[in-house]
Amino acid sequence: MSNLVILGAQWGDEGKGKITDYLAKKADLVVRYQGGDNAGHTVELGNQKYKLHLVPSGILYNGKSCVIGNGVVVNPTSLVREIKYLNDLGINTDSLMISDRAHIIFPYHIEIDRLEEEMRGEDKIGTTIKGIGPCYRDKVERSGIRMCDYENKEAFETRLRANIRSKNNLIVKYYEGQPLDEELIVHEAMKYMDMISKYITDVNVVMRNAVKEDSKILFEGAQGTLLDIDYGTYPFVTSSHPTTCGIAVGAGISPYRLQKAIGVVKAYTTRVGKGPFVTELHGETGNWIRERGFEYGTTTGRPRRCGWLDMVMLNYSAELNGLSAIALTKLDTLSDLESIKICVAYKLDGEIIDYFPASLETLSRCEPIYIDMPGWHLDDVEKAVTYKDLPENARAYVQKIEELLGLPADIVSVGPKRDQTFMRKDIF
Ligand code: IMP
Repeated sequence: MSNLVILGAQWGDEGKGKITDYLAKKADLVVRYQGGDNAGHTVELGNQKYKLHLVPSGILYNGKSCVIGNGVVVNPTSLVREIKYLNDLGINTDSLMISDRAHIIFPYHIEIDRLEEEMRGEDKIGTTIKGIGPCYRDKVERSGIRMCDYENKEAFETRLRANIRSKNNLIVKYYEGQPLDEELIVHEAMKYMDMISKYITDVNVVMRNAVKEDSKILFEGAQGTLLDIDYGTYPFVTSSHPTTCGIAVGAGISPYRLQKAIGVVKAYTTRVGKGPFVTELHGETGNWIRERGFEYGTTTGRPRRCGWLDMVMLNYSAELNGLSAIALTKLDTLSDLESIKICVAYKLDGEIIDYFPASLETLSRCEPIYIDMPGWHLDDVEKAVTYKDLPENARAYVQKIEELLGLPADIVSVGPKRDQTFMRKDIF
């Protein structure tokens, strides 16, 4: 068996979909282990763009086994929509498997997500309003409903009705909202569960067999390290573990079986939602990067906040995830800037620090300490067919990141197409 983890080393949206797609070709099994349809992966093949939210990117190789692990929260309506979208584009989804232990997102989770964000006012987390937090909360609270519960439809319906009533109580009495239509929720849930029930399976058996049969497994992270519920910029985080720490529990594989992890790093930093962002660019350069890099959410369409690369954050991320290498994406976006900054340390209350503080109040007092790197031109990047063809200054930027991180950039990508990704080493 050999396995590889691909995950976001920053705040998500690093271009994981494209890198996973690139490596999925060699995998026997591609596995999602956390998050839900809050994720948005865009993969471009030829002239066709594919936008994926729940289904692992490996699905684009027809017939590749793709697993939605127990750590994922699944909205059946979104999943049916995504399967139809893929089928309409000629992608076969028969090889999809959903863990019978995965929890289900219902409309009341989405409504509570929305109402909570509304109540937070100025202190909004900026969630995707996909019901992610409320669904994980039910899981931990032990009132959630799982895929395997659908084996007994009658009991499933009874539990669902009980949950709708108790959530309606909460919605009306606590959030002062409007009650949801119980009959409609039950009717739709049964309809969509019927449509996806053929994919539900015991993923632990699948994983056990994959290990026994020496299969190549690719674990596909969603969101990013700094959005991890424990290690991210809490409370401006998601409710799962996008780090390597989440794989064993979210995919049903022993942590001792995990071998290598590649952190996907965007050549600069972006984030959506609120929270401190030490290297954020508020002026013209930030807007320029946003437009050049099409930095708008795949799931929500929201403009992303943009800033320089932050090595304090990346070193924290590399250590936590036990990264063996990085995949550096969107190097092309920085082209045509005269000079490019990299944050190498923070200044906190007059002192220089190289660690990432847990407290957001402390983090918001940190000032970036930068080094400057010379820029390069887009024309020269676009001509490159191999890594070595890239302009010298672009390669110097990559080399500086490798040096500051102590890790190789085994993959470098300079555009959305498959042939714009340079694999510098055979890693899988
Ligand atoms: P939630 O996951 O919808 O609860 O949102 C919690 C936080 O995670 C918010 O700041 C979202 O913007 C952020 N988030 C969730 N999914 C993604 C993603 O795929 N990319 C980037 N940010 C995300």
